[in-house]
Amino acid sequence: MTGTLLCPLSELAELGTKSFTAGSGPWPLRGFLVRKGRDVFAYLNRCPHAGHPLNMRPDEFLTAERTHLMCRSHGAVFDIATGECLAGPCAGRFLQRLPIRVVDGYVILDGDADELAAQYA
Ligand code: FES
Repeated sequence: MTGTLLCPLSELAELGTKSFTAGSGPWPLRGFLVRKGRDVFAYLNRCPHAGHPLNMRPDEFLTAERTHLMCRSHGAVFDIATGECLAGPCAGRFLQRLPIRVVDGYVILDGDADELAAQYA
């Protein structure tokens, strides 16, 4: 099975987020990880409202209360586990989930990063 090492799980706080770039070429896959306890999720770093990256500062994707994900462009708020927009200009739409697995303490992107980047270009 193909895969790309994204980071050691230990680089993610128990409730933490981390952006990543995977693949080669001028349009790599840009995503982010969010860990909530034992669960880790990965999403494309593209807001369903206007297509902007969600974060303005590196690795900052959570609301001030750290209960939800947030897009800094126009304030859309998303559920951590499902990526559903719960409030804001794209309510009811979803962040694009990316396939990952955690193996031996490492977060791995499942599949070919360049193919995923092309799929979501
Ligand atoms: S681009 Fe994310 S809320 Fe507008």
